[in-house]
Amino acid sequence: MKRIILQTVIIVAFLFTCSLCYSQNKGAINRKWWKEAIVYQIYPRSFKDNNGDGIGDLKGIISKLDYIKSLGVNVVWLNPIYSSPNDDNGYDVSDYRNIMKDFGTMADFDTLLKGMHQRGIKLVMDLVVNHSSDEHEWFKQSRSSRTNPYRNYYHWWNAERGKPPYRYSLFDVNHDAWRYDSLTNAYYLHYFSRKQPDLNWENPKLRSEVYAIMKYWANKGIDGFRLDAFQFAAKDTTFPAFPNGFEKNFSQYYAMQGNLHGYLREMNKQVLSKYNVMSVAEGAGNSLTDAHNLVDAERHELNMAYPFDGVDIAKPDGYSLLHFKQVFSRLDSAFEKKGWLSVFLANHDQARMVSRFGNDSPEFRELSSEMLTTFIMTMRGTPYYYNGDELGMTNAGFTQIEDYRDMATLNEYRHVKNTGGDIPQFLKRIAYDCRDNGRTPFQWNETANAGFTSGTPWIQVNKNYKTINETDEEKDPNSALNYFRKIVKLRKDNLVLVYGRYTLLDKQNPDTYCYTRVLNGRKFLVMLNFSAKTAAAHTGINLSKARVLIDNYNNPSKNGQLRPYEAVVYEVK
Ligand code: GLC
Ligand code: CA
Repeated sequence: MKRIILQTVIIVAFLFTCSLCYSQNKGAINRKWWKEAIVYQIYPRSFKDNNGDGIGDLKGIISKLDYIKSLGVNVVWLNPIYSSPNDDNGYDVSDYRNIMKDFGTMADFDTLLKGMHQRGIKLVMDLVVNHSSDEHEWFKQSRSSRTNPYRNYYHWWNAERGKPPYRYSLFDVNHDAWRYDSLTNAYYLHYFSRKQPDLNWENPKLRSEVYAIMKYWANKGIDGFRLDAFQFAAKDTTFPAFPNGFEKNFSQYYAMQGNLHGYLREMNKQVLSKYNVMSVAEGAGNSLTDAHNLVDAERHELNMAYPFDGVDIAKPDGYSLLHFKQVFSRLDSAFEKKGWLSVFLANHDQARMVSRFGNDSPEFRELSSEMLTTFIMTMRGTPYYYNGDELGMTNAGFTQIEDYRDMATLNEYRHVKNTGGDIPQFLKRIAYDCRDNGRTPFQWNETANAGFTSGTPWIQVNKNYKTINETDEEKDPNSALNYFRKIVKLRKDNLVLVYGRYTLLDKQNPDTYCYTRVLNGRKFLVMLNFSAKTAAAHTGINLSKARVLIDNYNNPSKNGQLRPYEAVVYEVK
């Protein structure tokens, strides 16, 4: 009898759990591990150098796995680590199945992946297949003759047809995306640098090669792909002429063309759907409709969009918080029912978050960086957090062109010079927004080169490493680093921060950003002061009974007054 009762209890409990899972899966919230993930982006070149050559490497990352684990993040996105001549720091791949010599070996990679998995951390790899390196075997073959079987792996325009219609290149000295190659008297297309020829996605052979590469890595056990520049992969290969000045808005002409969705559906069918991997596009097209079409689960393309609307707001002369709130609120509502979003304020192509969106003066650096971190971790959408931002690392402080390493910036400098542009003005602008600002070595401690390398770093260490570094911040319970750990934990422990409905409050307030997140009867209130002065927020919510979940000042007031860059998350009734 006892046994029967026990069995019944077990069966009922089982059915109950199933129905819960069911309602969570099929109901309003459709749970997925990649929605609940917190992505930490590592720029391998600048993270940790293990062998003293001044370049970060895989063994360096391996040596810091416990640190990464201690952050609480559960996914790492690595910028490209494949073989590359490094014209664009790995975004020019010469062999998709091997590891860049500077970074180590495949054995190091295997150790790294195993070490991550042992610590419960998943790995997302960058997949750079809009273009390859000109040193890739495919391109070497392709350029060797017009009849080579690899000719159609790239876009060629035979010179006897005259000059091809102008295409804009982002990274070229002359911004000309066609490069003449005398070997076969033809031009090849490169939207990025001359050493990054664009692959021809119209060719089914090329597409199967890419899927085979993806399977190679998925079979190794990686957990996802970030599709670099992929919105540009499809092209109108008749190359019609574009109107004058199109380059000012080149995305409208280049992004989301032709059969891009067809390619993604094919990739999904052949690779993504067969593995438990996540997929994220860089960018999100030209409109919210584009973005949706990429990530609407019913379309079977990608998992999440990565729109630049947010990071694009910051300008050298500042930005308006009203605009910021508008952009992020619009994005949230666009993805409320379908698809999924990434939330980020920095990456390896951006200057430092605290220098652009916060305040990097000694007085407010930590506070404002914690406030921005609070924003990223309390929005719906998967947070993508860039390495070093957890310390509140700042822009590089470079003053002369010799300090910079980024090929795109160096080419642009030459372009400005060649066209008689204003060099001091240019230097001022790049000090604010050049991506090298986000690529200076990770500041581990106050020893030489911030403990990043025992050699000469490939790019200078930020001079402020003696005051901003991991070792010091470990010791300070109120550091940006320890705040980051706390808020990561808060997000992981509370699904309301992942899936909860977002509502903007006090919309017209130019200094504060306040919103609620609501799920299954729980309500969180996030209050952020984006300004350097005390500001009053009018949320209409009575805070007297509110429970403080986290705040960056300790002891927030309960009258709606926020101190400079204050961030508070409450649970309210
Ligand atoms: C993406 C990458 C960037 C790279 C470019 C070309 O935008 O994020 O770093 O330079 O693509 O691959
Ligand atoms: Ca090294």
